[in-house]
Amino acid sequence: MKRNEFIKTCGSICLSTSAITLLLQSCGSIHYASHTLEENIIKLNRSEFVELKNEQTSQRSFVIVKDEGLPFPIVVYKNGDQAIALLMQCTHQGCEVNPNAYSLVCPCHGSEFDTTGKVINPPAEEPLKNYKVTMDDHYYYIHLS
Ligand code: FES
Repeated sequence: MKRNEFIKTCGSICLSTSAITLLLQSCGSIHYASHTLEENIIKLNRSEFVELKNEQTSQRSFVIVKDEGLPFPIVVYKNGDQAIALLMQCTHQGCEVNPNAYSLVCPCHGSEFDTTGKVINPPAEEPLKNYKVTMDDHYYYIHLS
């Protein structure tokens, strides 16, 4: 490999790595929350939204509940004190959607949903399945039925 090609290749790799790092930082990290599932109610400690980084705490905008008893994971978005729980199954043809802080994107055909489950980009036409959420001082309760 010639020197010019080598420098060009290394530069491209460095730029790609930086872009991916920035993208991942902007998306935040995915957190799979501890929980219990009993009698069709998921009990989720509100502290699951607290993130400790460099000895400072911040609030995650969402967490994911993954459980053997669920056909798909559930993403729980926090909006102030309220929480919105959405089944991560695309309403177009059933693929698992990928959540980020602002939306959920389907990798199969590109449908996009906002954090309330509403369609913002087709081909999906129906909103994501939304579960009732209640809460007390320490827990969110996601009612599956
Ligand atoms: S299955 Fe999600 S867009 Fe088609």
